[in-house]
Amino acid sequence: MNHCVVGLQWGDEGKGKVVDIIAEQCDIVVRYSGGANAGHTVVVGDSKFALHLLPSGSIRPDTICVIANGVVADPEVLVNGIEQLARKNISMDSRLLISENVHVVLDYHKKEDQLREESLGKSKLGTTIRGIGPCYADKVGRSYAVRMADLRDLNKLKARLEIIVEYKNKVFGAVYGAEPMKADEIFEKCKSYADRLLPFITDTTEYLHKAITNGKSVLFEGAQGSLLDLDHGTFPFVTSSNSSSLGMPAGSGVPSRLVDKFIGVVKAYSTRVGAGPFPTEQENETGQYIRDKGHEYGTTTGRPRRCGWFDAVAVSYAATIGAIDSIAMMHLDTLAGLKELKICRAYKINGQEKTFFPANTEILLQATPIYETAPGWDEDLSKVNDFHDLPANAQNYVCQIEELIRTPITAIGVGPKRSQTIFR
Ligand code: GDP
Ligand code: IMO
Ligand code: MG
Repeated sequence: MNHCVVGLQWGDEGKGKVVDIIAEQCDIVVRYSGGANAGHTVVVGDSKFALHLLPSGSIRPDTICVIANGVVADPEVLVNGIEQLARKNISMDSRLLISENVHVVLDYHKKEDQLREESLGKSKLGTTIRGIGPCYADKVGRSYAVRMADLRDLNKLKARLEIIVEYKNKVFGAVYGAEPMKADEIFEKCKSYADRLLPFITDTTEYLHKAITNGKSVLFEGAQGSLLDLDHGTFPFVTSSNSSSLGMPAGSGVPSRLVDKFIGVVKAYSTRVGAGPFPTEQENETGQYIRDKGHEYGTTTGRPRRCGWFDAVAVSYAATIGAIDSIAMMHLDTLAGLKELKICRAYKINGQEKTFFPANTEILLQATPIYETAPGWDEDLSKVNDFHDLPANAQNYVCQIEELIRTPITAIGVGPKRSQTIFR
């Protein structure tokens, strides 16, 4: 059985935890989009892992991990990730495969991300500055792209980097007045990454198709969230890849027809990092309460996350475009202590009620949420392991949302640990 797990909000829904849990029943876990902008947390016992490029299946020692073609990978982050796990006695040797078609994030991508964000001032996107947008732009532009396969021929790469860096220096100098970068320094880094990464670089499309034909079960791990999807999210306040499940076939070479189950991950409320429309945002005590109680600070950048009420309009849309079969709802425990909860069931836009999410940012900025309310609860949920042992108001909250989003909620998170998950 093949699964795909995707975030249905603006990222950080708890995908790492859900992937780690489902990975127990799978042979292979595949990252297919995004890059080190992702920060996926897995908590096992007292150990906490923050994964940026390695799939969240990495924590399970027998799981094969694949970084497929749709990812843009910063080799420095990748090598650090492999070494961090090795220090915890988790080896990736002989179970990590990196697509030769993965595009490589280099220093000039991170530099451009930073220079552009700084120059935009108040109208910046609030990116993670991990070089994601510039690297995908080079991929689409083709002429100045570097892929993992290019690490195989270092002489050719050296010559290529000289041309690319010369071009980038001219552009960054003219546009931003930036100091020039040195091609040979970037090349020397590539040389050391090549030593470490070459054994992992292969044709992952061939590998995945053979594995599926041989009955192996594959779990595709989405990064970011569906509302950050380049085509279907709140453009331009999105990431530079198709981060919904629609990116899975192109990002892995495996058609979605071969996936048996699409699982969406949501939080029991909403969060967003970076700029962009967020209709149910609570810039008040409630938002601060959720931020404090849910430790809502970015896994990758440490930035405080913007917090707000659950948005059923946004999640229904993400579930619809993602053909989502079932939902895992994390962080139900975080809402304990709030007297009354709100759930956005529709938007009012220009005097009209709308239940289909308008991904168009201009329209979304005019949306006023129409809320349903639900009574809260005070009990600590962190030790509950059966749905029927949850306080009645917590059960009702889940059922109320389930009705609005018309998708079954089959798993509920009551804490960060692998074990703090209720299955229905
Ligand atoms: P991802 O990017 O979707 O993998 O999510 P992140 O790891 O960036 O953020 C989710 C955060 O919530 C992490 O710190 C998790 O350890 C934590 N978490 C996940 N599920 C739960 C839950 O059910 N309750 C609580 N309190 N924390 C959770
Ligand atoms: P995970 O996989 C939350 C956001 C950034 C910014 C926008 C563009 O951990 O859920 P980028 O660096 O991609 O160009 O930034 O997207 N963003 C995320 N927000 N979780 C993520 O990943 C994110 N990856 C990117 O904050 O608003
Ligand atoms: Mg995250």
